[in-house]
Amino acid sequence: MKYCTIVLLLSFFATSFHLTQSATLQISQFGGKPNGDIAKALTSAWAQACASTSASKIVIPAGTYQMTHVFLKGPCKAPIELSVDATIKAPVKPEDVGGDEMLRIDYADALTISGKGVFDGQGSYAWKQNDCSKKFSCKLLGMNFAFNFVTNSIVRGITSKDSKHFHVNVLGCKNFTFDGFKVTAPENSANTDGIHIGRSTGVNVLNTDIGTGDDCVSLGDGSKQVLVQNVKCGPGHGISIGSLGKYKEEEPVDGITIKSCSIKGTQNGVRIKTWPSQPGTITVTNMRFEDITMDNVSNPVIIDQEYCPWNQCTKQYPSKIKISKVIIKNIKGTSATKEGIILACSSGVPCEGVEISNVDLKFNGAPAIAVCSNVKPKITGKVPPCTAPSNKKQ
Ligand SMILES: *[C@@H]1O[C@H](CO)[C@@H](O)[C@H](O)[C@H]1NC(C)=O
Ligand SMILES: *[C@@H]1O[C@H](CO)[C@@H](O)[C@H](O)[C@H]1NC(C)=O
Repeated sequence: MKYCTIVLLLSFFATSFHLTQSATLQISQFGGKPNGDIAKALTSAWAQACASTSASKIVIPAGTYQMTHVFLKGPCKAPIELSVDATIKAPVKPEDVGGDEMLRIDYADALTISGKGVFDGQGSYAWKQNDCSKKFSCKLLGMNFAFNFVTNSIVRGITSKDSKHFHVNVLGCKNFTFDGFKVTAPENSANTDGIHIGRSTGVNVLNTDIGTGDDCVSLGDGSKQVLVQNVKCGPGHGISIGSLGKYKEEEPVDGITIKSCSIKGTQNGVRIKTWPSQPGTITVTNMRFEDITMDNVSNPVIIDQEYCPWNQCTKQYPSKIKISKVIIKNIKGTSATKEGIILACSSGVPCEGVEISNVDLKFNGAPAIAVCSNVKPKITGKVPPCTAPSNKKQ
């Protein structure tokens, strides 16, 4: 009887130990060697982890590795952690990546990507080929990360460096967090947006430093319940919602909070941009821009419903995107132009429910002004009064 009890207890502990302990899969076990291409090794490690009924951890230790395109698919049977302390380099030429992204992950649940690792897109060669500023539709040259339909997951630590195109694209995800993430690329690198989020709910970008050549964080249509908090942005083009309205099939944008961020030396701080004379008719509501410090930002707070870069459209008809419930609160620091706040709302569907409180932005030592059209904001605290736009465009 005693013997039986002991055996039972032992097997009970062994089972629970097994359940809580995740199996560790070293990239070297799958043929991944320093300086070699680890695409195949990572794909094989994922296949094993994904089939496992208990949690697994795939480890890519410190060192330098190469990686062509890797496409990892879920759903998997148990949580997976991808722990990366390595520097992983993409091929220099876009055509050698053998796919669009360095790392694409679809349909994973309970995924963690962690570590001090760097994913280096080696984009400088690709940036020279970029023609997106000249063409309405241009060739996309390969991102560092794409996450599609990933749920309940987190990226903790990790640096994305010199992506050929967007650093990170988040599409169709739910409950997905970036914490302590870092993006780095030079100011003059074209279309290297930091994190682009679209058609996703519950995405958090926390404690993240982003310096790049395009938007730090950009939010496309269908972004819902997104929190961007304690993010440092610059150089770059700031934090943008949109552009929206270019296509008829877009989904609404609802519940975006940009909070406790500092933005430095960028063209824009926080911006909502929508196209005029284009078919989109979605609504944009429950926007919150709060506790933001600007340092020499050209357009610290801007709603631009006449967004029409490189004359790609006409301004003949107003934007049909309705913007409502926008809170702009506790914005301080310096503007690089005299307009600290620009609210250029649509004459077709004016902005509604815009509240501004406590704005202390200086341009050359004097208070920056607010320029407003097609909006009657509710003002509390110290805020520059709304002036009408002059005919001369900024
Ligand atoms: C969201 O994802 C995290 C993992 O990042 C998980 O711990 C948490 O339980 C998830 N929340 C919900 C509501 O599922
Ligand atoms: C501020 O920004 C402007 C325009 O971007 C730039 O020309 C100027 O050198 C910047 N000033 C400082 C102090 O960084």
